[in-house]
Amino acid sequence: MTTKQIEETITIPFEDATTAVRASEAQFIHDFLQQLEAPSTLEIGFGYGRSACYIMAATGGKHTVMDPFQDHYNRQALRNVEACGFGENLNFIEDFSHHVLPEMVKQGKKFDFIFIDGDHKFDGIFVDFYYADMLLKPNGFVLFHDTWMRSTQLVMSFVEKNRLDYRKMMINQNNMSLFQKVGEDTRNGMHFREFFTLRRIFKHALIQWIWGPSKGPVKSFVLFLKEKIRPTAKR
Ligand SMILES: C[S@@+](CC[C@H](N)C(=O)[O-])C[C@H]1O[C@@H](n2cnc3c(N)ncnc32)[C@H](O)[C@@H]1O
Repeated sequence: MTTKQIEETITIPFEDATTAVRASEAQFIHDFLQQLEAPSTLEIGFGYGRSACYIMAATGGKHTVMDPFQDHYNRQALRNVEACGFGENLNFIEDFSHHVLPEMVKQGKKFDFIFIDGDHKFDGIFVDFYYADMLLKPNGFVLFHDTWMRSTQLVMSFVEKNRLDYRKMMINQNNMSLFQKVGEDTRNGMHFREFFTLRRIFKHALIQWIWGPSKGPVKSFVLFLKEKIRPTAKR
């Protein structure tokens, strides 16, 4: 199935379109995975299943996804995967990543590519990365979504400053970040490098304010401008 056919097949509610990755981001993931040889893939956070469908279209192989909240999304990710004909290759685990990932580590599972797009709080992303690291094969890749968020930025900054066994890849995406595991973690127990960063501090605050509950003429004007610059329908 082509990615164009995926877009024609899947359903993502207009009012919740920002939950899914953008089609252009999913296309990036698809094209990146197509360059790898039969990669084994894991994803944290199912949402509407857009990224999952593109991943499965790219690899033609099994894909494991976990998410405890499919009911909140009318089980639409599962419907989308089925509608695209990828159901047979899907291993969906309806549970929190903090339950599933340690169990996979215990079972000795390993993956070439892990997409982190689940809980977007700092501690949630950090814990997902912690286990993703143990689940990655040598030279495997971990991809973070929503890098506009302070929480994601800080986890990325931790990896960049403390995990020299990871290499940040140059990619043409401004809301995702890709790292490759290129070596062994040789830190001793005393190792720590500060990773505080100011990046995205204003952008994050602005977006939180825009999507927050407060109302008023200033906000209406900002929303009007935002709609002009990047209309919601174009996601
Ligand atoms: C932004 S959405 C993922 C969108 C998806 N990549 C797509 O393209 O449709 C985030 C998802 O993570 C899930 N989630 C939140 N906390 C989680 C956790 N602790 N473990 C696993 N999934 C979680 C949510 O239920 C939600 O479905």
